[in-house]
Amino acid sequence: MSEARSVELEHKVFPDGETYIRLTESVSGERVAVVQSCYPPQNTNLVDLLFILDAAKDMGAKKTAAVVPYFAYARQDDAYRSGEAVSARTIARLVETAGASHFLTVDIPSNKALRFFKIHSENLTCMKLMAEYLRTLPLRRPFVLAPDDGAISLAETVSKVLGTDHAWFEKSRDKVTGTVTTSGKDVDLTDRDVIIVDDVISTGKTIANTARIAKKQGAQTVMAACAHLILAGDAEQTLRTAGVTQVVGTDSIEAEPRPVSIAPVLAEALRRIW
Ligand code: R5P
Repeated sequence: MSEARSVELEHKVFPDGETYIRLTESVSGERVAVVQSCYPPQNTNLVDLLFILDAAKDMGAKKTAAVVPYFAYARQDDAYRSGEAVSARTIARLVETAGASHFLTVDIPSNKALRFFKIHSENLTCMKLMAEYLRTLPLRRPFVLAPDDGAISLAETVSKVLGTDHAWFEKSRDKVTGTVTTSGKDVDLTDRDVIIVDDVISTGKTIANTARIAKKQGAQTVMAACAHLILAGDAEQTLRTAGVTQVVGTDSIEAEPRPVSIAPVLAEALRRIW
C-alpha cells in the first residue's frame, strides 16, 4: 500500500447554523478514510461525516471508508417499543447513500446494529490495547467485571491479557424511564482491585450500580475501563459517589487526553480491508 496522506478540510458553520464542507485537494482515484467520531453533538458530527463522504465521492474517490470510532445511535438497533425509529438503521442508510464503501466502528454494544449495512462493516475492539495499558498499572489481584452480558466478550479479552478472572452481572433497563437495575452474582471480590469494563459510559449509572455491588462483595478498589467516555451530565459525580476511583478511556472522543489510543486498531483494519 502506498504512503498515506491527509487532506485538509475547509469547515465552517454559517450564521444560521448550517455546515459547509470542502476538500481542499483532489482525491480522485484514491482510497479515502473519513475518520469522524459521532460523539455529542452527535447530529452535527453525523452531518459532517455525511458531507465529507459525499464530497469525496463527488471528487472521484475509488473507495471511501467511513471510520466512526463512536457510532452514535448504535444502541437503538431495533424498535424495542412499537413506533420507535430504528435510528441505527437510518444512520446506516445515510452513510451508504453518502457513498461509503466500508464502515468501521469500535466497540458498539452489539453487532446487531451492523446488520443494516449492505456495504462491508466491522465492529473493531480496542480492548487488547486497553488491557495492555491496564497491565502497566499497580493493580493488586485484579478482577475483571462486565456490568451486563453485552460486555462479556470485552471482559474476556481484558482478563485474558491480564491473566486474571472475570465475571458478569445481570442488567436490565426500563424501556420507558431508562432506569438501570443490576443484580450481582455470587463472586468473592474480597481484597481484589476490580476493573469494570464496558463499551460506553453515558450517564454512568450502569458502572455505578456495578461498582456498588462489587464494593459490597468485598472489592478493595473499583475502577472503570471503557472504550467511549461520553460522561453525560453529572456522570463523573455519579461514578465517584459509587466509589469508582479511576476511569480509563480512549481517544475515540475528543476530550482531555486519554491513555489509550485506538489509532492502531483503525490503521490495522484499513490495511486489511484495502
Ligand atoms: C448498553 O448496554 C451499553 O453497553 C452501556 O452499558 C450503557 O449504554 C451505559 O450507559 P449508562 O452509562 O447511561 O448507564
